[in-house]
Amino acid sequence: MEKDIEDEKTISKEETAAAEHEIWKHIFGFTPMAVIKCAIELGIPDIVETHETPITLTELASKLGCSTSLLHRIMRFLIQNKIFQEKPVSDTSGPGYTHTPLSRLLTTHGTRSMADFVLLESSPVMLAPWHKLSARVLGKEGSAFGAAHGEDVWAFAAANPGHSKLINDAMACDARVAVGAVIEGCPEVFQGLKTVVDVGGGDGTALRLIVEACPWVRGINFDLPHVVSVASECTGVAHVGGDMFDHIPKADAAYLMPLNNIYTNDPSTINSCQ
Ligand SMILES: C[S@@+](CC[C@H](N)C(=O)[O-])C[C@H]1O[C@@H](n2cnc3c(N)ncnc32)[C@H](O)[C@@H]1O
Repeated sequence: MEKDIEDEKTISKEETAAAEHEIWKHIFGFTPMAVIKCAIELGIPDIVETHETPITLTELASKLGCSTSLLHRIMRFLIQNKIFQEKPVSDTSGPGYTHTPLSRLLTTHGTRSMADFVLLESSPVMLAPWHKLSARVLGKEGSAFGAAHGEDVWAFAAANPGHSKLINDAMACDARVAVGAVIEGCPEVFQGLKTVVDVGGGDGTALRLIVEACPWVRGINFDLPHVVSVASECTGVAHVGGDMFDHIPKADAAYLMPLNNIYTNDPSTINSCQ
């Protein structure tokens, strides 16, 4: 108790006020994720993308069929967080919304879109394990996901196709960006390879991009049966289902994402891309 009083004396009023201001950020720390998820679910980034001029609040509300007052609060929050910006519109009194580099990442079909990753991580299934974090730290639980759902994430996905799709779509977002960087930054890693296996390749997005850029490569997309059974057909890529702890299909080279090391049959010839 005496120590508490002593500590309080050494902390200035300004520091206490700053801490009291800061704590609110943590109390409502979930709001950016919730509001970004809301914007994606409403399709706002796609509407802004397809509108030829900056779209006004009234136009956006009319497209969504919602009230301007609630929508205004959502848009104000997003703009404060550098997601969308306001630009003058010549024939109206108010401004209109346009994209920023950040809001462009939230469209549904952009090549660098991260919208599906937001939808995965903000899903109730993926948020539930965070409520088990303290038990995990104390060693009372094997894994936070297991504590929340009673099985590991891959078994859960196998039994829940909707969640499996969320995972596969989210992984494809990351694959598009990561593989693009590898192909641009170190294309030499694929020279001389006729076959490449992606271990845990998800829906095959990574291999599809590699085969498109390096047409001499044939890809084997290896993943759990419930994942490859719903993967789209792709020229130059064969989907193979199985468990990597049992076997991995033979190929000239194998990789696991993150794609920074390509392991060839000859260990002395590891093609590295750091
Ligand atoms: C984090 S995801 C990465 C997906 C992809 N490589 C990417 O980066 O976009 C891990 C992948 O490994 C797969 N996986 C998990 N356990 C596996 C196993 N035992 N055998 C084969 N694939 C497995 C999952 O289904 C999932 O697609």
